[in-house]
Amino acid sequence: MIEVRNLVKFYQSEPVLRDLSFSVAPGEIFGVVGQSGAGKSTLLRCFNGLEPYQSGSVQVMGREVARLRDKELKELRRDMGMIFQNFCLMNRKNVFENVAFPLRVWESHPALPKRVRRFLGIGETADARTRARVMELLELVGLADKRFERVQNLSGGQKQRVGIARALALNPKILLCDEATSALDPGTTLDILQLLQDINAHFRLTLVVVTHQMEVVKRICHRLLLLDKGAGLRLGRTEDLFLSPGGMGRFADEEYARLPSGVNIRLLFPREIARQAVIAAMARDLGLSFPIVGGKLEHYIDDVLGFLIINVPEENLDTVYGYLREKNLRWEALDDA
Ligand SMILES: Nc1ncnc2c1ncn2[C@@H]1O[C@H](COP(=O)(O)OP(=O)(O)O)[C@@H](O)[C@H]1O
Ligand SMILES: [Mg+2]
Repeated sequence: MIEVRNLVKFYQSEPVLRDLSFSVAPGEIFGVVGQSGAGKSTLLRCFNGLEPYQSGSVQVMGREVARLRDKELKELRRDMGMIFQNFCLMNRKNVFENVAFPLRVWESHPALPKRVRRFLGIGETADARTRARVMELLELVGLADKRFERVQNLSGGQKQRVGIARALALNPKILLCDEATSALDPGTTLDILQLLQDINAHFRLTLVVVTHQMEVVKRICHRLLLLDKGAGLRLGRTEDLFLSPGGMGRFADEEYARLPSGVNIRLLFPREIARQAVIAAMARDLGLSFPIVGGKLEHYIDDVLGFLIINVPEENLDTVYGYLREKNLRWEALDDA
């Protein structure tokens, strides 16, 4: 759907995207995560042709963005909806008008005078189609009853729903989300993420989700790219990046007990391992028992995954390491225990 090869972009002499290569598959929810200033928004703007790039390639649905002419670029942007942190809505217009806006722009026929359009009946047909489409979209995002409300009177979550409805108006193939939940409280964030997941599943819409919030990528992204100062640090399946030895989860601040003796071992539970009763089985097989000193379970897309930290006495370490290797489990010893 999107193919990025050796992408390099500068602002003046400052490199902001450094040799990025990755691809986004059709129907995927792909995350781009990184701190503020990492280059996430710039990358999105390369996808829809709002930013030029100095070298490398960005192909969206098989076409090199930098080579598109005005008309083709317009079509590309129609196929890519976008939502933003600050919503970018017309605040003094009502919900209906905001969602209708892209339809009116796209369906208007500026070459024909209004009088002629009315004579040909173009205006009326387009209006009826617009009305039907807007109502369909408002039903989808759960705002049909707010259609005459001014946007400025809505809550943040409702505004983002309007943003989503507007972004979907022209039936895009790809939805670009730039910090779409960063201005929302945690509960509303979950509602919006659920809506995005539903839209992805229902329409097989490809989503690119840009965010600095790790909780967001864990919740909905199938795969992700970690950006750091414009460079791609990691690329892979979300749970693999977080739930691997030395993975991204390693740096999350976490609490666990430091016992006076023994070594703390983190056992990671990605999808493939989460359903096995690993600790109970190990205790039984080895005839040992282990105190649990820490752990964290979180929602990863549609599952609850995470890690547990157990404390293993020094004298049993070799046995336990041997067992963990033999069973092909994912683990790491925490040397600061
Ligand atoms: N129009 C611009 N001109 C010059 N520098 C810019 C411009 N836009 C962004 N930058 C710089 O590029 C870097 C990446 O910005 P941005 O893509 O907005 O990061 P992010 O979205 O990850 O916070 C930052 O250092 C930012 O200051
Ligand atoms: Mg940004």
